[in-house]
Amino acid sequence: MMELLPRRIPTETIRENVMAIIDGIGDEVIRQFVSEIIAINDRFWSSPGAKRLHHSWCGGLAEHSYAVASIVSMSAIFYPEVNTDVAVAGALLHDIGKIKELSFSGGFQYTDEGRMLTHMYLGAEIVSAHAKEYKTPLDNQVINDIVHIILSHHRDPEYGAIVKPATLEAELVAIADLMDSSMVNLSELIRNDSNAGGWTAFDSRLTRCMRKPAASPDIPAPEAAIVENDGSEPF
Ligand SMILES: [Fe+2]
Ligand SMILES: [Fe+2]
Repeated sequence: MMELLPRRIPTETIRENVMAIIDGIGDEVIRQFVSEIIAINDRFWSSPGAKRLHHSWCGGLAEHSYAVASIVSMSAIFYPEVNTDVAVAGALLHDIGKIKELSFSGGFQYTDEGRMLTHMYLGAEIVSAHAKEYKTPLDNQVINDIVHIILSHHRDPEYGAIVKPATLEAELVAIADLMDSSMVNLSELIRNDSNAGGWTAFDSRLTRCMRKPAASPDIPAPEAAIVENDGSEPF
């Protein structure tokens, strides 16, 4: 089935806000490291966030990463033990492996390496490889902390995590990731529902009906990201 899915936030707004979040990273070495990875891997800006679930449109990865990093940055104030720079860096990079996990010419499809290695492994590889080439020596512990955030961001092995979060920063990113993906999934269920009346039809994947809001939210017009949805993606 082919369908048109909209970007929810204009591309330029996302780009400006992501750059502002990077600028807000206090540790100069971490800030430069994240900035370089995103500059080198410019598919970050155009990749989808998923094949068919949350943020499954071109630019969805950047939009989702922006949301997760914002949630982490705003929440960290309540948890002084959290290293905010590491958590925000990990939040921005947690799904960077999706640039290799998904191809998006003629509909979104999993690549072979995506199927076999997962975006978590691929993301860890991107970060580790860049750390080896990075001019400024980056503390090994910081690299491990960021890679750990990537490997654990699905929180539970049942949902694809390679390891459970073992740091406060990783737990915070995993929860922020779940929050954003859930909110967008449910919002999309409501927006795409064609059921008459105040409730959506039952969604077997999300295992519920949702009550529709009284007024529909003002979402920008679609920027025509064509998505092929064959219903084969589990997560
Ligand atoms: Fe992910
Ligand atoms: Fe994510």
